[in-house]
Amino acid sequence: MAEKVSHLAFLVLLVLSIPVTYTGQLQSSQTQSLLQIQYLLNNPPFLNDWNNDTDFCNMEPRSTLTIVCYKDSVTQLHIIGDVGAPRLPENFSIDSFASTLVGLPSLTVLRLVSLGLWGSLPTKLTRLSSLEILNLTSNFFHGTIPPEISSLTYLQTLILDGNNFTGGLPNGLVSLSALVVLSVKYNSLYGSLSVSLGRLENLRILALSNNKFSGEVPDLSSLANLQILDLGDNALGPRFPAVSNKIERIVLRRNKFTFGIPEKVQSYNQLEYLDISSNRFVGLFPASLLSLPSIAYINIADNNFTGMLFENLPCSPSLDFVNLTSNLFTGKLPSCLLPGSKHRVVLYSGNCLATGDKNQHPFLFCKNEALAVGNLPQHEKHKRVFKIALALSLTGGIIGVIILVGRALLVARRAVQTPPTRFVEENASSSYTSKFLRDARYITRATKLGALDLPAYRSFSLEELKEATNNFDTSTFIGKGSHDHVWQ
Ligand SMILES: *[C@@H]1O[C@H](CO)[C@@H](O)[C@H](O)[C@H]1NC(C)=O
Ligand SMILES: *[C@@H]1O[C@H](CO)[C@@H](O)[C@H](O)[C@H]1NC(C)=O
Ligand SMILES: *[C@@H]1O[C@H](CO)[C@@H](O)[C@H](O)[C@H]1NC(C)=O
Ligand SMILES: *[C@@H]1O[C@H](CO)[C@@H](O)[C@H](O)[C@H]1NC(C)=O
Ligand SMILES: *[C@@H]1O[C@H](CO)[C@@H](O)[C@H](O)[C@H]1NC(C)=O
Ligand SMILES: *[C@@H]1O[C@H](CO)[C@@H](O)[C@H](O)[C@H]1NC(C)=O
Repeated sequence: MAEKVSHLAFLVLLVLSIPVTYTGQLQSSQTQSLLQIQYLLNNPPFLNDWNNDTDFCNMEPRSTLTIVCYKDSVTQLHIIGDVGAPRLPENFSIDSFASTLVGLPSLTVLRLVSLGLWGSLPTKLTRLSSLEILNLTSNFFHGTIPPEISSLTYLQTLILDGNNFTGGLPNGLVSLSALVVLSVKYNSLYGSLSVSLGRLENLRILALSNNKFSGEVPDLSSLANLQILDLGDNALGPRFPAVSNKIERIVLRRNKFTFGIPEKVQSYNQLEYLDISSNRFVGLFPASLLSLPSIAYINIADNNFTGMLFENLPCSPSLDFVNLTSNLFTGKLPSCLLPGSKHRVVLYSGNCLATGDKNQHPFLFCKNEALAVGNLPQHEKHKRVFKIALALSLTGGIIGVIILVGRALLVARRAVQTPPTRFVEENASSSYTSKFLRDARYITRATKLGALDLPAYRSFSLEELKEATNNFDTSTFIGKGSHDHVWQ
């Protein structure tokens, strides 16, 4: 009896120890689909070992090709062509290609990269209803992203980077509630971003850079897991986007952001990477961003940020790269940013810093420019006063109208007479500055007490940083999460 039980236990163990990836022979219809894919892709050299006898489910994964099966069906298909592969010839038909793909109905991961695919994204693909990951990077798809894509309810990752999609993001995307990664970089998408983006609550990566999106970024602050927001090279603005404080990377470079950096950014304790260069930001730069605990990269070049920097401002030890070029900073470069610290890249020309080098403007330049940019919000204020007066006067009675218009005119006249310096002064007394001064005082005391830790620098080459900016690898971030798929 006992022996029987132990036999049974042994058998159970044996069954359990067989890897779930064990697969038998692929269904012959699926083998035919794969061979048809090879043919429709014009028999590319990296698939030239495929034939009727190929054991597709037990091939060694390689950089250009991975096939994963479960039982007798293909569940993952990754085909990666050569970088810069040209468009497939005119006789290629994306519809025939899609019809062939739906012959692999158990696909959960479909990654077809740099294969020269072209045409509109066929709605037929939504018949692959188990899809969790769709990655069509670097092909020649054009036309709009079909709204039918929102019927792929299990979709977690949608990557359409480097195609020529046009139009807007389909509104229906919001029904893809499992979506973790949405990346449509380097396309020709345009229009404003739908507020419904703010309801994709599992989103961790939102990458829309290098398109033609315009207008205000919708409120993303309820996306509690958002780690990467990449909106670079669009025409978005003017307000700084609202995100949750889990954010790790914010890229807004080359857009139309104006106004200032909201105070909340100073509480982004996980922020590692901030690139808001080449916008039209104005106002005081909150220097406390230099000492955010995780910060490694700050690029605020080509804006109109103002502020006086101090030698004893603190920087985070993790900070490797700072570009302050072409702003309106005055004062002295914080000593934690001075060249002596070898592995840190710091660029600051085109400001009014008292550094003694010739790439700085005279102090008066920054002062005058600051006054010039300070003028703009004053005009905004006038407009608002008039608008409020108008709204009130329309709802009031005739007598009310007369009184209110009289008052509005008075208010407006007073506002016009206000000297333009006022905006700058108002800002100077804002909380940024008081925090700034508090930090500076604290640091002075710490230095006196000899308690200031010298930061330990991590080496980080410029190349690495550039690479990090240009092509962050979305799979790394997913890898950190709860995902269980094979990625390469
Ligand atoms: C397309 O044309 C090429 C030759 O021009 C031919 O080799 C190939 O088989 C054709 N492909 C399809 C899918 O018809
Ligand atoms: C594979 O087998 C099918 C039928 O079994 C046949 O029509 C086809 O020509 C074969 N293809 C190759 C590449 O051998
Ligand atoms: C992308 O599409 C737009 C609009 O259809 C077109 O003007 C442009 O030439 C296309 N670009 C490429 C690289 O095909
Ligand atoms: C900065 O302000 C000046 C003066 O108003 C303006 O000419 C310039 O375009 C602004 N630069 C940026 C990057 O916004
Ligand atoms: C710093 O910013 C300036 C102005 O945008 C730019 O020309 C320069 O290339 C930037 N430096 C680096 C290393 O990114
Ligand atoms: C999508 O494909 C690109 C190109 O191969 C790759 O860099 C990226 O990591 C892939 N992302 C995912 C999530 O598969």
